[in-house]
Amino acid sequence: MSVYQEIKTFYIKTFGCQMNEHDSRRMARLLKGLGMSPARSRQEADLVIVNSCSVRAKPEHKALSEAGRYRRNQKNRHVRVILAGCVAQQGGAELIEKAPYLDAVLGPDAIGNLPDIVKRLQNNEGPITDVIEHDLDNPCFTPLTTTKHSDVSALVTIMKGCNNFCSYCIVPHVRGREVSRARDEILSEIEKLAHSGCREVTLLGQNVNSYRDPSGLGFPDLLHEIDRQGAVERIRFTTSHPKDLSNELISAVAELERVCEHVHLALQSGSASVLQRMNRGYSPDNFVDLAKKLRGAVPDISITTDIIVGFPGESDRDFEDTLDVVRRVAFDQAFSFKYSPRPKTAAAGMNDDVPERIKADRLEVLQNLLARIEAESLVRLEGKMQEVFISGPSKRDAQISSGRTRCNRVVNFENAKSARAGTLVDVQILEARGHTLWGRVPLAT
Ligand code: 5AD
Ligand code: SF4
Repeated sequence: MSVYQEIKTFYIKTFGCQMNEHDSRRMARLLKGLGMSPARSRQEADLVIVNSCSVRAKPEHKALSEAGRYRRNQKNRHVRVILAGCVAQQGGAELIEKAPYLDAVLGPDAIGNLPDIVKRLQNNEGPITDVIEHDLDNPCFTPLTTTKHSDVSALVTIMKGCNNFCSYCIVPHVRGREVSRARDEILSEIEKLAHSGCREVTLLGQNVNSYRDPSGLGFPDLLHEIDRQGAVERIRFTTSHPKDLSNELISAVAELERVCEHVHLALQSGSASVLQRMNRGYSPDNFVDLAKKLRGAVPDISITTDIIVGFPGESDRDFEDTLDVVRRVAFDQAFSFKYSPRPKTAAAGMNDDVPERIKADRLEVLQNLLARIEAESLVRLEGKMQEVFISGPSKRDAQISSGRTRCNRVVNFENAKSARAGTLVDVQILEARGHTLWGRVPLAT
């Protein structure tokens, strides 16, 4: 008799970006289509999928050790473990040798084959590798579908892949070249989502600014069309490359009622020479000018960013330049990381010469500055009225409602008697509390 038991329940652990969150939801939907259900806890799952991220070394190690942990913890049961995501794409079949506890390695473009893989594992086949290699001349196109973020909010992929080859970044190597989804497909998807109760969409892509429909329609025009369609109350998008952020896009954010006032614009470094070696295609002054233009055209806009410290050759002076740009732009929120060399990237061939201790010190200095600036940006909202999109009751207290402002700030608030998820309400901001805001709906007079 086989030691293998039927695969009935699943657990998916997700690392990395929104693209991965989206892929995890797609996988969950495919598994449910096979009649499987989510496990009550990770310990009880028959199938565990670790959806990995390889953008930095740390999350990559985490994903592999996470996958190993599931297998080791199961003493009497044979749990199947699938490694999905970018680490799977990058490592392919070799991962099975490195990590013999894996039953399958599944690349992001092969997600559609998941049901077949599960059936094969059920028949005791394995280990299985299913990774579609990218062909630079013929970009691979798999159906890009939409997943619900919550009952009222959804992520809609509009393009995937990246052609920029920033010298530190593994994404173009694992996610392939840019491919855009057709406009009609996006519009009908949003229409369908709206019918099922969705009131907010976040348009996703590695670089949404280079979206181009096969008919030639660009990203700002797409925003105009979704706004005109009127199916959802709010439209968000992420992420934008500074070198491609056009005046048309700035006008679209300024003018279109449903498009929220928030751009995620990765600075990466504030030093001219580091930016050049990163192959970013803009100078620190270009970036500061762009931020000024955005704040001039859209006064309440929130600008968020990503920054890397300790890139090869980054001197104290280069790092000071980054702090300088951070002060000048006054980012509303930021993610910051220590540089880690990634295979296949141009920077992997450079000397990773900033000692770990200095990287850690710089990260601490930068994060302290960013935290101070973020706190100031929250305090500026105190006393103001903000339009809030209600996501539901707050996690800690069901009497309190929670939602987001147009500039993507989390607000917890009271007095929202008829607060329904997916509706808009004007909230008076009383106080900044940590990373969130506290407010109340003014009583009717
Ligand atoms: N080392 C450190 N951070 C990186 N990022 C991308 N590649 C690396 C790397 N090799 C960061 C960038 C990017 C974010 C998603 O991850 O800031 O915008
Ligand atoms: Fe990576 Fe640069 Fe492409 Fe962003 S734009 S995914 S950082 S290569």
